[in-house]
Amino acid sequence: MNAVEIIQRKRDGGPLSPQQIRWVIGEYAADRLPDYQMAALLMAVFKEGLDAEELAAWVDAMLHSGDTLDFSHVAAPKIDKHSTGGVGDKVSLPLGPMVAACGVAVPMMSGRGLGHTGGTLDKLETIPGFRTALDPPEFRALLARTGLVLAGQSETLVPADRRLYALRDATGTVESIPLISSSIMSKKLAEGLDGLVLDVKVGRGAFMKRLEDSRTLAETMVGIGRSYGTPVRAVLTDMSQPLGREVGNACEVAESVEVLRGGGPADLVDVTYRLGEEMLLLGGAAADRAEGRARLERAVASGAALEKLVEVVAAQGGDPRVIHDPSLLPSAPHRHEVAAARGGFLTRCDALDLGVAATRLGAGRERKEDTIDPRVGLRVLVKVGDPVEAGQPLVRLAWADAARLAEALPLVERALEVGDERSAPPPLVHGEVP
Ligand code: URA
Repeated sequence: MNAVEIIQRKRDGGPLSPQQIRWVIGEYAADRLPDYQMAALLMAVFKEGLDAEELAAWVDAMLHSGDTLDFSHVAAPKIDKHSTGGVGDKVSLPLGPMVAACGVAVPMMSGRGLGHTGGTLDKLETIPGFRTALDPPEFRALLARTGLVLAGQSETLVPADRRLYALRDATGTVESIPLISSSIMSKKLAEGLDGLVLDVKVGRGAFMKRLEDSRTLAETMVGIGRSYGTPVRAVLTDMSQPLGREVGNACEVAESVEVLRGGGPADLVDVTYRLGEEMLLLGGAAADRAEGRARLERAVASGAALEKLVEVVAAQGGDPRVIHDPSLLPSAPHRHEVAAARGGFLTRCDALDLGVAATRLGAGRERKEDTIDPRVGLRVLVKVGDPVEAGQPLVRLAWADAARLAEALPLVERALEVGDERSAPPPLVHGEVP
């Protein structure tokens, strides 16, 4: 096998054989292929795509680059949810406890925020003491005990993806449907799940800005799941404006607790329940979506879902008092409000600009090695379609560093637009697959 020949073949639009794909991914995962050759191949794949046979071989090579997990010691069905990433997307935090409280085991493996999108692990780590790095035996033991684990991926699970993702991030090759779908699905298949619900985001704050692309991504991932016999359902949800009101880390934990107490903003609640219904259906815990919804509502109304989060926080070393009293979470020392210059209706609340603004405040990472400030963030006070009066606060920033505030403010101002005509709020759910 010759790396240059493989790169040239893909560059010229020719299909790669399964053997070539297995070899190149295996060599890269074993550190025997240099980054510059893999970067060239990734760019060729980005430009030329992968056909169905190549994609199957690519996923398989990644999946077998490391360990796979076995949760067969847990009798309950094991169902996970994965979001392609967004701004204010804290759904995993209320969803995991709600679904686990309904008897479905949720081995939730989450990631960190990168660029303008937040990450569940960063949010969880604002809870004092909470540990997201669990080794496989502890992960297995906790899943059997509590039915819900909220943790990062172990080092040995799909190691090829860790290297490939970092390289894609540094070479402008992230937004590729075959590369995203193989990255996500190889990790999820390695978890040995009984089912997976995908929340594929669409809109300005998502990887996929256009509905057609997010649908193709969803269909590709569902197809990969099917070829491994793992049932996968995808819901395409809106990411043109932030989900819920809070964008940050500690503030998103507090908003998630509100949902578990039966409150919270309507869009966040709706997306959480919608994904929960799909998880219960896949786990055989509901016959249809209406029954799923009713079970989830009961889990919230009875307090069982909130208690599940308390139990998991304690089991993973966190201080459960912050769940009962989120005012104990870290909080930024200063506030600054951006107000409407005129009256009318909010016509734009751009998720991408607001996500970048939160990152500039310190809530996210520009580079992998950056540290985040758990205290800072922003609260979106109005949504698209809401009436607005001149002088009314639209966004409240929670900040700690004046230089960072100065960087974030122009982005927040650019993100918001007030017009005379009321535009209809975007639909929350744009479609589903299958
Ligand atoms: N999330 C992943 O895990 N991989 C991608 O390629 C994109 C988003």
